[in-house]
Amino acid sequence: MSSLLEPIVVGGKLPLRNRVGMGALTRNRCVNDLKPGPAQVKHYSERARDGTGLIVNEGTLIDWTGTDWKYTPVMINDDHAGAWKKVVAAVHEEGGTIFFQAWHVGRIQNENMPIMKETKTPVLAPSAIQAEGGKYRELPGAPGHSNNITVIEDPRDVVEMYRRAVQLAKNAGFDGVEFLAQGGYLPHQFLCSRANMRTDAYGGSVENRCRFILEVVDAIEQVYSGYEYICVKLCPADFLNDSVVTFEEMKQTYSYLLKELVKRRVGIINLSRRGIELSTQTGNSSTIDCRPEGFPLPPGYDPVLDFGPLVKYPGSPSLLMVNHDYTPEEADELIRAGKIDLVSFGRPFIFNPDVISRIRHNIPFAENCRGNEVFYGPYSVEDENYNDWPAAKV
Ligand SMILES: Cc1cc2nc3c(=O)[nH]c(=O)nc-3n(C[C@H](O)[C@H](O)[C@H](O)COP(=O)(O)O)c2cc1C
Repeated sequence: MSSLLEPIVVGGKLPLRNRVGMGALTRNRCVNDLKPGPAQVKHYSERARDGTGLIVNEGTLIDWTGTDWKYTPVMINDDHAGAWKKVVAAVHEEGGTIFFQAWHVGRIQNENMPIMKETKTPVLAPSAIQAEGGKYRELPGAPGHSNNITVIEDPRDVVEMYRRAVQLAKNAGFDGVEFLAQGGYLPHQFLCSRANMRTDAYGGSVENRCRFILEVVDAIEQVYSGYEYICVKLCPADFLNDSVVTFEEMKQTYSYLLKELVKRRVGIINLSRRGIELSTQTGNSSTIDCRPEGFPLPPGYDPVLDFGPLVKYPGSPSLLMVNHDYTPEEADELIRAGKIDLVSFGRPFIFNPDVISRIRHNIPFAENCRGNEVFYGPYSVEDENYNDWPAAKV
């Protein structure tokens, strides 16, 4: 039997049926006022019914924002929490466990998006440095990310936004929270010296640049009464959304941050290896970006193997989950070698409602045979390319 199917307990408190996580997947299908509906209930509960160990819901914005992703859910009021409550209940009905992914995009947005105008929400970021890239197809001329940035005066105000959203997530019944701190989004902007030019206690030194993330983690702990219910998603070698940093900066930043998170006894660190050259590319990628020039990594470098021992060592209170282009076979070997505790699959969960059954019966994952529209649309009904993928015949 694959070691992926063995149960595990997070922080001595939260039992999981197995070591397979479903990664957060933005699918642009919350068409009813940015809330989930029957399509999401079906999608998540099917994956729970098949036995997924830990589901993380799609990235959910904790503030009104106008992102490139239409119909991305938000968690701002009781109405939003009430809609998610139905999804969570359906997952629990199937014996599943589901975390809420807290997302704030920071400067990765455009202030001319209608929702931001309607809600009078500014583009917030640690510093007024425009991010390269972006393409807001909804706006005339498809502009990039905003150059009209409001510098966050007191980051503790944004910590409170996270606290509010996480409290709503707890009210909805979510079993814990995955804090999205990669991908060039707001928490990541505090980490990167290229995006953070602050001269106060949240900028400058490594300790200061990590402060925001640690304060959000502490706020989530206060809501959930335990660091065990927190997963932090990090990608040291990331380059998405103008987030790349030098190898030296990466080493310093993540050595400190990971030690601080483990010191707090955070339940799970979800470490991505995006940003390195991979020989196992599945060809299912929805992005065609590659690492920018001028920020080389040592040949063969793997951040999961490099930073993993800071999280996974005898007696560690935290579990190490990994993601990005893993196969069940590679993850099984890493678990048996004592290098990781859990694996998270993203794209395979889109095309396979039965990831766990396939692992159990040694059936290869189905791949995407329908083109790039399956990821973010367009679609004629929400279920299209969402709830219509066949399970394998066992
Ligand atoms: C369509 C799509 C949407 C995604 N949305 C999110 C998201 O909302 N939050 C997040 O942290 N990661 C998101 N990801 C990344 C996945 O969670 C996962 O980390 C990544 O796909 C790598 O895993 P994989 O190689 O098994 O696909 C997304 C990926 C895809 C393909």
